[in-house]
Amino acid sequence: MTFDLVAQDPQTKARAGVVHTAHGSIQTPIFMPVGTAGSVKAVHQRELKEDIKAQIILGNTYHLYLRPGLDVLRQAGGLHKFNGWDRPILTDSGGYQVYSLSKTRKIKEEGVKFRSHIDGSEHLFSPEGVMDIQRVIGADIIMAFDECTPWPCEYSYASRSLDMTHRWLQRCIARFDSTEGLYGYQQTLFPIVQGSTFKDLRVRSAEFIAAQGREGNAIGGLSVGEPAELMYEMTEIVCDILPQDKPRYLMGVGTPANILENIALGVDMFDCVLPTRNARNGMLFTTQGIINIKNKKWADDFSPVDAELGGYASTFYSKAYLRHLFQASEYLAGMIASVHNLTFYLWLVGEARQQILAGTFREWKERMVKQVMVRL
Ligand code: GUN
Repeated sequence: MTFDLVAQDPQTKARAGVVHTAHGSIQTPIFMPVGTAGSVKAVHQRELKEDIKAQIILGNTYHLYLRPGLDVLRQAGGLHKFNGWDRPILTDSGGYQVYSLSKTRKIKEEGVKFRSHIDGSEHLFSPEGVMDIQRVIGADIIMAFDECTPWPCEYSYASRSLDMTHRWLQRCIARFDSTEGLYGYQQTLFPIVQGSTFKDLRVRSAEFIAAQGREGNAIGGLSVGEPAELMYEMTEIVCDILPQDKPRYLMGVGTPANILENIALGVDMFDCVLPTRNARNGMLFTTQGIINIKNKKWADDFSPVDAELGGYASTFYSKAYLRHLFQASEYLAGMIASVHNLTFYLWLVGEARQQILAGTFREWKERMVKQVMVRL
């Protein structure tokens, strides 16, 4: 994997770049739709490509390991072959789901013992094991095994956890660098900065992560309940330390405003379940603001979901029809809303990129942050 830094905004720390992988290139800043179990929920691959114009999607080690399991993934020839997505894929390491989903978990130096949320069976995730699993899944970009601390978090816990995450990273790197991809193309490993919302821990972690010299770096442990201003403070500190010439990925973020503010601080890559999860509950992100499509006020509004945005799902269907689909609990409701929200998120980062290239990002960002977060 390589990264070309194409432009830097003179008024903010925003950047435009290109990430090159074995499955094609990614124009940054980018939003990556979440396809936890190998599918972006309620969205066809064809829609992801042609309507949404997704350039890379996520998969999750925890989910794919439990179901369908490694035998099936290996026999399929990896996740790209299994789900038919021939563009780049990134897999998260499970260093987040193990904490949020599994019933019981024991964190030790060796790794994390947990019980499956599906059938209660017991498993151990170690840094080495998680590298091996991500070799079998075959994502282009794979993530280190880390501990994402909850918020708020005691300083002493955050500090000890950070040291363990760093030791785990060294074990991840040793395993990754002594193995090869199973399917004939290169994969790359991104380490993850942790340190909760403590400035000195974030500095310590960012310096440690930068020193590993990997091809890209990630920031974790944010958007876990802390105020947005604290998140921005942490991303700024970390981005100022991480190398300029490598992509920076902020994990699990966020709202359209969060994404724009973090682009301004130097983040290049984002993922979040928000656009898809909220779509299935009737929350639409549009160029004019946020809509709860279940609201009675849309019952006789026959205007398109988002005329400004363009794209099939956003212009072919009316707000009144989409509201009706939600009222009637039709599957199509969540499908249309998911395609629309993802189209909007990909438009937002694509437009941010154009504004960075044109040197007009700051002014545009200030206006958009207000415009897209208005409740309609
Ligand atoms: N997704 C969102 N935050 C995190 C994090 O801190 N670590 C990992 N592995 N995944 C995440």
